[in-house]
Amino acid sequence: MTIYNLGSINIDHFYRVPHLVQPGETLTAKTYSMGLGGKGANQSVAAARAGAVVRHIGGAGPEGWAVARLEALGVDCRFVEQVSAPTGHAIISVDDAGENTIILYAGANREFALSGVTLALAGAGAGDTLLIQNETAHQVAAARMARERGMKVIYSAAPFDVVAVQDVLPYASLLALNAVEAEQLSAALGTVLANLPVPEVLVTRGAQGAEWCDLRSGRSVVHPAFPVEVIDTTGAGDTVAGYFAAALDEGLTVQAALRLATAAAALKVTRAGTADAIPTRAEVEAFLKGMG
Ligand code: RIB
Repeated sequence: MTIYNLGSINIDHFYRVPHLVQPGETLTAKTYSMGLGGKGANQSVAAARAGAVVRHIGGAGPEGWAVARLEALGVDCRFVEQVSAPTGHAIISVDDAGENTIILYAGANREFALSGVTLALAGAGAGDTLLIQNETAHQVAAARMARERGMKVIYSAAPFDVVAVQDVLPYASLLALNAVEAEQLSAALGTVLANLPVPEVLVTRGAQGAEWCDLRSGRSVVHPAFPVEVIDTTGAGDTVAGYFAAALDEGLTVQAALRLATAAAALKVTRAGTADAIPTRAEVEAFLKGMG
């Protein structure tokens, strides 16, 4: 089936720094690079590289190369609207431990029309999946439309925004969070994850691996992280979300999907960058073979 992704498209500016900048500090970067990113685009690339058919929905500015790169990485961009606002961008600092800070400028990601989302989802139905995150416009409307059409809705609550989560959650089939976002959500709602009004939750915990939980039955599946040398953790959560969605779409079990997604993220963190650093399915399978 098809994975639709209402997702951001960003131009990522990467600065390698000796440590993350402190308030009032001026810091000289060791290196600079630029590439395709955005939580949405990263998830689309991950799902496409896992082998899924992926249609990206969103907006981009007139500069053009980011969408061309997304297409070159195997994502169908016919539902990406070109608008006059600049393409979204991110200023990303990565320290020697591979940790990051990110400043986002939404730009075109919040400027495209809802009619494009409606048009894109008009051809979707049961068995298809909608991915959404918090970096675009129209998440709630898209999630509602998708559920009305019988689609699975996988929602990454990133960047964290409690109001956005509360608005989207009634339509989500699966909520994906990292450990920090899970704590923020629990604190904001004054409840534990197990009490959330959503059928399934996927929590990524960096070096501690990932956990999927069916909140209706209480069944959970945990997968430890693979030990690797960390170069850059940026986009690791997006890699998990995209690979996990693609694996479920392919019909893999949750256990197998979590193993594949965790391995993909392990390979991603050994590489600098975001969309271009997400491994192919063949690379992930070879990595897993090497793990025995
Ligand atoms: O999750 C990583 C992504 O967050 C980056 O690619 C950046 O563009 C921001 O959206």
